[in-house]
Amino acid sequence: MKVAVIGAAGGIGQALALLLKLRLPGHAELALYDIAPVTPGVAVDLSHIPTTVSITGYTGDDPSPALEGADVVLIPAGVARKPGMSRADLFNVNASIAKSVIEKVTEVCPNALVAIITNPVNTLVPIAAEIMKKAGVYDKRKLFGVTALDVLRAEDFVAELKEVDADKVYVPVVCGHSATTILPLLSQVEGLSFTEEEILSLTQRVQNAGTEVVEAKAGGGSATLSMAEAGCEFALSLVNGLMGKEDVLCAYVEGNTQYARFFSQPVRLGKNGIEEFMDLGPLSDYESAELDKMADILQADIQKGVDFIE
Ligand code: LMR
Repeated sequence: MKVAVIGAAGGIGQALALLLKLRLPGHAELALYDIAPVTPGVAVDLSHIPTTVSITGYTGDDPSPALEGADVVLIPAGVARKPGMSRADLFNVNASIAKSVIEKVTEVCPNALVAIITNPVNTLVPIAAEIMKKAGVYDKRKLFGVTALDVLRAEDFVAELKEVDADKVYVPVVCGHSATTILPLLSQVEGLSFTEEEILSLTQRVQNAGTEVVEAKAGGGSATLSMAEAGCEFALSLVNGLMGKEDVLCAYVEGNTQYARFFSQPVRLGKNGIEEFMDLGPLSDYESAELDKMADILQADIQKGVDFIE
């Protein structure tokens, strides 16, 4: 099993590489790539941690050596936002970065599962899909936007509010990955109930959690460590799925909901990537109304990506 991290020398990339070095199963191969010349050194550094995972680092203009033979490609490459910016403000820089990475993926490892962490996720995943389609290699079961951090945050905030163990809480978070398109489905949290006030304040906190970190870092970037943990858990689920151990989680995919062509929804992962696009399950009136409002925003984000490629 080979996992490539593209953008591996940045704040998310280095932490993600460390977590994968520690947690990938068996004799997996980890390939790091970044334009930053330090990347081979990051790999040497990590290689001294005694696990069965082998690791190599590459730099230069071409990520191909890292991508060759990859089963899973994780993409955190790109710039982070600063206070006052939205994720969409990163589009101009990050769309071009994502485009060149995806073009290489279609050439070098067209069958890999590809997970995009770079923002704006709502728009970069459609860009990737359009590039893959044009190259004739698109398989919607294999392309993902990583929204796993929204789930981790929702679980943490619920656990804190209700004074229960975070590892015993599961909160599906659906729709997209920008403040106005993130929706935790609190009505589906097993064993806990929420007042209207709690639903509003928890929903807003999950929606604004990325901005909470951006402001706390005061110009020093956005979430890196929690995002790396979310990215690592997501990658482990992809890898386990490929090895036949199925898992269900929420991801931003070209799914089957009535709201938008791309949507974060529960999917069952397995040997072919997504084995099943799952229903959203029963929604409260509040959740249904919010999703109706969010659909237009998400559709505009998706169209922006499609227009960029056209
Ligand atoms: C996050 O949710 O923390 C990331 O999408 C980064 C950001 O800019 O908020």
